[in-house]
Amino acid sequence: MYKLPALDAVKELKAIAVLTSGGDAPGMNPAIRGVVRAALSHGIRVYGVNRGYSGLIIGDIWEMNSRSVSNIVQRGGTMLKSDRCEAFKDPAVRKQAAEILRERDIEGLVVIGGDGSLTGAALLAEESGIPVVGLPGTIDNDIHGTEDTIGFDTAINTALDAIDKIRDTALSHERLFLVEVMGRDSGFIATQVGIACGAEMVVIPEVEFKIESLCFQLANNRVKGKGSSGIIVVAEGPRSGLTYRIAQQLEEHDQAPRVCILGHIQRGGSPTGHDRVLASCMGAMAVDYLRAGYSSIMVGVQKGEILDVPLREVLERNKSLDREWIEMTRLLHK
Ligand code: F6P
Repeated sequence: MYKLPALDAVKELKAIAVLTSGGDAPGMNPAIRGVVRAALSHGIRVYGVNRGYSGLIIGDIWEMNSRSVSNIVQRGGTMLKSDRCEAFKDPAVRKQAAEILRERDIEGLVVIGGDGSLTGAALLAEESGIPVVGLPGTIDNDIHGTEDTIGFDTAINTALDAIDKIRDTALSHERLFLVEVMGRDSGFIATQVGIACGAEMVVIPEVEFKIESLCFQLANNRVKGKGSSGIIVVAEGPRSGLTYRIAQQLEEHDQAPRVCILGHIQRGGSPTGHDRVLASCMGAMAVDYLRAGYSSIMVGVQKGEILDVPLREVLERNKSLDREWIEMTRLLHK
């Protein structure tokens, strides 16, 4: 159970809006539902913005009611659709977006998305003065100021479900599998998945990969009687094709690995109970923060407590993977 902040309402809001932006994440739907239901319970009108900032800049906005969010708490994806909107990087386009919000008496905006989306949220709030609250919605869990993000837990469990199946065939054929998980710049998904599936090795952007270390590890496994089957979890990294390159290097060292790219399967599916609770609470709290007069903040979770983190702090700092986690993956496959 999260500790929830008790906030005093200082503002009577007529209407707010909610949008989802960037890569979708399982749990975005319960977050939208949390925003809508909390706002309506305080007599605030709620507008849904379709396709993130792309919809906002053309006024693709509709009024939601309690029934609009019925039967979505268990659904993956986002009912409001999402997009990565390049045009929103232009200050003139953001000005246009602010005018569209003002025309509809919208006095607060909730943005659910990853770091790119939160950057847009911070700029819009600073330039227009319209209060904006961000929610960390990304499977990557790479956002500073929060220990958890909406979708991370589901993505881990989806990857594990797939890898447990791969493990069956790997054992039957005594084969080595390279399984690629998402995470362009960070190894949060790979590390947690690697620990939970008992991977032989985890390859992440934070640690330089050396084929010699992997071959040494595999030879060691054989000496210890571990057999030749195994799972190596690879974070996709910034350049596509990494996993195939590692497979090729392994072939040059007399291995015959198979490659499985999990890809976007990790972004879909029904959110886990954990993600539903996190997203619902964050959604409802975003409304409380707006009513309490906050702006330019992200709702985060730290040490079991839901709290506010200034968006500037979120965006100026990188969340780095603790070395202890890297050590943990090494310790467990000895
Ligand atoms: O940021 C979420 C994420 O799923 C990353 O893990 C991945 O690198 C990227 O999005 C993929 O983006 P797209 O769906 O645009 O290909």
